[in-house]
Amino acid sequence: MKIIFKLLTLLSFAGIILASCEGPAGPAGADGKDGKDGTDANETCKLCHNSSVVLTKAIEYEHSLHFTGEAFEEGTRNSCAPCHSHQGFLDVIKNNTPATIVVNPSDPTKYINNYVATASALPLPGSISCFTCHSSLHKNFESTEFLPLATTAPVSMTMWGGAKSINFENTSSNLCAKCHQPRPITASSGALINYSKLISEPAVAYNLSSISYRTGVHYGTHGAMAAGVGGIEFGSGYENSEHTEEASCNSCHMATPSGLAGGHSFNVAGNFAGCNTTDCHSSMSATSSLLTNVQTDVATKLNELAAKINAIGNGHDILEKDPEDGQYHGYFDIYDSGSNSDGYWKNPDFGTPAFPALTNAQFGAVLNYQLVFRDASKGVHNYKYIKKLLENTLTAF
Ligand code: HEC
Ligand code: HEC
Ligand code: HEC
Ligand code: HEC
Ligand code: HEC
Repeated sequence: MKIIFKLLTLLSFAGIILASCEGPAGPAGADGKDGKDGTDANETCKLCHNSSVVLTKAIEYEHSLHFTGEAFEEGTRNSCAPCHSHQGFLDVIKNNTPATIVVNPSDPTKYINNYVATASALPLPGSISCFTCHSSLHKNFESTEFLPLATTAPVSMTMWGGAKSINFENTSSNLCAKCHQPRPITASSGALINYSKLISEPAVAYNLSSISYRTGVHYGTHGAMAAGVGGIEFGSGYENSEHTEEASCNSCHMATPSGLAGGHSFNVAGNFAGCNTTDCHSSMSATSSLLTNVQTDVATKLNELAAKINAIGNGHDILEKDPEDGQYHGYFDIYDSGSNSDGYWKNPDFGTPAFPALTNAQFGAVLNYQLVFRDASKGVHNYKYIKKLLENTLTAF
């Protein structure tokens, strides 16, 4: 239905461009010089608007969470719009909006996070569409306008107030990482917390920010883990796997489609076409021990880390267990009358138990747990980095 509607709008739009205007005839003027031949709009339209280009990609795209997801509705807020709405994303690119967090000039006790979309970009947020990543489309109606991509510039990380960047060798991955990056932890003043203290003063009681149900790095940790940048790096020995340099997000997530994955579905689950290419793998599959060993190892270490964090609660978990999949997604099990009314800690129904004091290292451990769990690749994105991050975190407290 949606496709039929699009074709109809396409035809009527093309009609407006192609139809000649006929008004009442005036007196004949002198003949002008012949102009240059124009491009035939209909012909350039067809270079994209045909079944193998726009239609094929559009059908793939209908399987993408970018298209079906509802998170873009968060794009009505200027702090969410840079990653959740079409307009907000293009706005921060156009303005080269810095990821810095700075003192508020009108109130020096407060801080401002500069990484927001301008208010004019906000009304009725659009979901991520072809025009979000291919922002040159329909500028001159030429067939080459799928490229350049909206951005491939290094990504100044909002989690780190711009102090760290993600910059992939395959720069198209920077497009994805611009949104698929973690978000900052801030104090009530709005100031960025000093993550380095989590490492340098591990046993000190954590007091850099308050802790509530949702405290954390948000959901888009994939770019940071794949690049091997931005974890709370306890200890040493960090390295990146081959994937960081050799693979791009699209080599795995936009591989030749198979089943309901690949291409512009951005879905990689069960599609090994991107793995089994020249100079990469030859027989990768869901049962390859290379894959299952990595994913089992990361899942085991994540479970160990969750158990160690939860033990701080002395009989009651620190992290909230998801009732649907029985896993810890990195939320704190803290009561919040609006968004987590059955949370345990601080819940008046359970006698308002005080949330246990965490040390700096323990708080850092929770951030690393979130970074790896929410990355969801179970090590595939960057096994060497993810493994080291988990190992060093497990011994840090
Ligand atoms: C470089 C490729 C390209 C060219 C050339 C091109 N289009 Fe498009 N057009 C697209 C894409 C991609 C979409 C989005 C399709 C989707 O969302 O499913 C689109 C969408 C549209 C839509 C739907 C409304 C919208 O903006 O989403 C209309 C109407 C349209 N094009 C008309 C035209 C006309 C008329 C021409 C020729 C003058 C043309 N296009 C040339 C790629 C192109
Ligand atoms: C404009 C920001 C933005 C860009 C650019 C972007 N994404 Fe996303 N992506 C999102 C958001 C937001 C979601 C979640 C959508 C929802 O739930 O409504 C998402 C969802 C996804 C998902 C599904 C995740 C899941 O939980 O199932 C995959 C896979 C994905 N993106 C991969 C990519 C890749 C690969 C690229 C680069 C080619 C990319 N994204 C570029 C913002 C972006
Ligand atoms: C730096 C980019 C970025 C910013 C800023 C951002 N998000 Fe997101 N958010 C993402 C990405 C990427 C995903 C998708 C992760 C996935 O599906 O794997 C996401 C997912 C979500 C989801 C879906 C979570 C789920 O899986 O159920 C919600 C809800 C959400 N964000 C809310 C917000 C709100 C509210 C704000 C502003 C206060 C915000 N986001 C700001 C990048 C961002
Ligand atoms: C989340 C970002 C994203 C969205 C949304 C997106 N694309 Fe793409 N698209 C890409 C990336 C990345 C590539 C690979 C570019 C490269 O090879 O450098 C690509 C490649 C393409 C190509 C091949 C271009 C070439 O010249 O090699 C076409 C055609 C295309 N996309 C069409 C579409 C259409 C149609 C839509 C909407 C239905 C769409 N894209 C939505 C990211 C996106
Ligand atoms: C070497 C292949 C590979 C590369 C490179 C890669 N991914 Fe992934 N990604 C995976 C696999 C495999 C999964 C786990 C999918 C599953 O099991 O459902 C995954 C999971 C994800 C998810 C969560 C999807 C879900 O279903 O929950 C997102 C989002 C994502 N990757 C984004 C990215 C981004 C952004 C990049 C580039 C910065 C990237 N990936 C690079 C293979 C890759």
